[in-house]
Parts: sequence; C-alpha cells; structure tokens
Amino acid sequence: MDKKTTNVRADELNYDKYASEIYDDDIKRSIPGHDELHKTIEKVVREFSQKHEVKKILELGIGTGLTSEKILKLIPIASLTAVDFSEQMLGGAKERLSKYNVKYVLGDYSELKLDSDFDMVLSVIGIHHQNDEGKKKLFRKISNSLKSGGIFIFGDLVTYRDEKKAAVNDARHYHYLVENARDDQALEEWAHHHKFLNLLAPIEDQIEWLKKVGFSTVEVKYEHLNTVLIIAIK
Ligand SMILES: C[S@@+](CC[C@H](N)C(=O)[O-])C[C@H]1O[C@@H](n2cnc3c(N)ncnc32)[C@H](O)[C@@H]1O
Repeated sequence: MDKKTTNVRADELNYDKYASEIYDDDIKRSIPGHDELHKTIEKVVREFSQKHEVKKILELGIGTGLTSEKILKLIPIASLTAVDFSEQMLGGAKERLSKYNVKYVLGDYSELKLDSDFDMVLSVIGIHHQNDEGKKKLFRKISNSLKSGGIFIFGDLVTYRDEKKAAVNDARHYHYLVENARDDQALEEWAHHHKFLNLLAPIEDQIEWLKKVGFSTVEVKYEHLNTVLIIAIK
C-alpha cells in the first residue's frame, strides 16, 4: 500500500463545511487573482476547443463546480468526470451542473485509478495539498490519463525557488486575506488554511516534473503572486 500523499483529510479543510454560495464568494476573497485566472482559463479552453474535439474531461477537486461550469458552458456536449473527497463540495457541484453530463466520484484522487482516454484534465486550486512525491505521482497519472495531444489545465497556488520572491509573495497573499476576508472568523480559517494546510512547491520544480512525465509543452499563462495557471500539452 502506497504512503498517503494528501496531507489533509476532507474534514480538516474548511471547504467541507461550506454552503456553495458562501464558498464561491470566499474562495475569491482567499485566492488573489481568482477571477483573472478563470478568464484566462476560458480563453485557453475556447482556443483549444476550436482546434481539438473535446469529448471527455476529468476534473480533480471539482469543489462547487465553479470552474467546470465555465468550461461546460463553452463545451456543453463534453462529458465530465468530477472527483472530490468532500461530500459537501460534490453536493454543491451536483446542484450547479445538473443540466450537464457529469459523473461524480467521491474519493481522494491520489488513490483512484483513472481512465486513459481524456481529452482534457483540469485541476484548479486543487493539488496544493499533495506533498512533492504526491504531486510527481499525480502528474504522471494525469499524463497517463490523457490522449496524445490532450491538455492539462492546472491552476494552483505555488511558491518560487527564489526565497525573496517566495517570502514577498506570501506576505502579499496574507495582506490580501486581511484586506478581503468576509469577517474575522473567515480570516482565521483562511489564514490557518494557507499557513498550515497548504504544501506549496516551487513553480520551477513543478514545470520540470510535468516535462519529465511526458508533457511536450508546458507554459505559464497566468501569474499573480502565488496564483498561477500552467497549461501542459501531452
Ligand atoms: C478550492 S476547491 C477549487 C474549486 C474550483 N476549481 C475553484 O477554483 O473555486 C478544491 C477542491 O479540491 C478538493 N480536493 C483537495 N484535495 C483532494 C484530493 N486529494 N482528492 C479529492 N479532492 C480533493 C477539495 O475538497 C476542494 O473541494
């Protein structure tokens, strides 16, 4: 049996307690650049789907379906397999995406076997609870789950090899939380989440790991403080 690579259980994360509407507001108050990140994702998906047929999508950590709704609006005929280990979050996604073709899977994606014929794999703010070994294994699994030419849309919080840049970005992220938290309790939860539950890896390492598992191009399409969008093509 493999060692666990996810550093938290679903019930340790504040996601597991959220009503969808509050989560959707709070995630934007917690992640600098969340809206712009999603505008870039929409642009990437629009351009990719004009050139490639996208029939099968996999999302790792769907949350309340905020990201996938934007994608399914652009590609409504695609089927989506949606994984999350939080029942509460999956419940929100089920309500939101009821008119689309979605298969919901409750479980830890690092422990699940994945199909190997996806055109698109998506994970947005959903991988940063994996340790380094977990990220590497997951990138390999994602690469294996994609058809040749398939796209991995990877938005997440990262850190940097340059310690000064890493420290300043962290400071700015905490400042953003203080300025934007809904109230003191939300500030407490999100500050705790970011300081003690996240495992951020340098973006430079993650790009190397993605190339190593067979992605032919790996590009950073959005970057604001610790929030980035990486697009990797198999
Ligand atoms: C922060 S949400 C992101 C949702 C959406 N993409 C957004 O940007 O708002 C990430 C989701 O990933 C899920 N998650 C984190 N680690 C997971 C794991 N190892 N297995 C399954 N789900 C996981 C969490 O439960 C959470 O619902």
